[in-house]
Amino acid sequence: VKKIAVLTSGGDSQGMNAAVRAVVRSALFFGVEVYGIQRGYQGLLNRDIFPMDIRSVGDIIQRGGTILQSARCLEFLKPEGQEKGAEILREYGIDGLVVIGGDGSYNGANKLSKLGIKTMGLPGTIDNDISFTDYTIGFDTAVSIVVDAINKLRDTMSSHERSSVVEVMGRHCGDIALHAGLASGAETILVPEMPFDLDEVADRMKDNFAKGKRHSIVIVAEGVGKGEDIAQALKERHASIDARVTVLGHIQRGGSPTPADRNLASRLADFAVRKLIEGESGKACGMIKGELVLTDIDKVVNTKKDFNVELYNLASRLSQ
Ligand code: F6P
Repeated sequence: VKKIAVLTSGGDSQGMNAAVRAVVRSALFFGVEVYGIQRGYQGLLNRDIFPMDIRSVGDIIQRGGTILQSARCLEFLKPEGQEKGAEILREYGIDGLVVIGGDGSYNGANKLSKLGIKTMGLPGTIDNDISFTDYTIGFDTAVSIVVDAINKLRDTMSSHERSSVVEVMGRHCGDIALHAGLASGAETILVPEMPFDLDEVADRMKDNFAKGKRHSIVIVAEGVGKGEDIAQALKERHASIDARVTVLGHIQRGGSPTPADRNLASRLADFAVRKLIEGESGKACGMIKGELVLTDIDKVVNTKKDFNVELYNLASRLSQ
């Protein structure tokens, strides 16, 4: 490839900027021209495409959000939109595209690759719901934000002997809830991947208070339902459970990426560029047990990520 483009698509995540920086700088290092596409696939269809140089990605490694901005584009879901996108890239002489985003964005990259554009996907989402990578870019930062919030909630919970129901993001995936729950010592972690019984949860919370615990944390992954409904259901089971709800929402997607996310982004993005140069296409980049891996996007979008039951069991063993 001689000329590549990069875009960010779907929900933004911390570390997307570090990935854009690495795509641009690695490509230029290897003598490949780079274009940025503003606002994801929508920007591609609007020809919002501009050349990027070394300086255009200065001072962004530490920033949340994405300088390329993002959008969810309905037009690109249709074959006509995808053909138009491929045509526009050809018009600009762009023969390779790095797509940074979640599974919806991967689907777009997959389609473009079938239309002859060399594509590479980078897992940019806080949800950690992409298979063939241990972690996605933004997940570590999102977990840190949840843990930090729970640290703060604990103070008030202990002072007033209350329970906190904390609703976290993740779409259909319970990983943010699981990892934040283990790290914050939550008593209960409710995720869509594992069955649970609210009667048991409520009984355990009541018993724990009776045994002298001064607070109780219930993390609810949004894939399970609304934190408000869970809190209500717990109160209905035992009136003594004073459960207050905190919905962390988009706070989880903002702020400076952790070093782990910056380094993951930098390594994956450089890998994507090198693989494009080698002629690979229609692949997703991931990191498994510290090793960079390339997998067919087709396979990635059609494989559900495994849930770490061992970690889930550990969290419940430790939350006595
Ligand atoms: O995919 C990232 C994510 O934050 C999910 O966790 C959440 O379900 C969704 O995006 C929220 O989407 P939006 O920002 O469009 O409200």
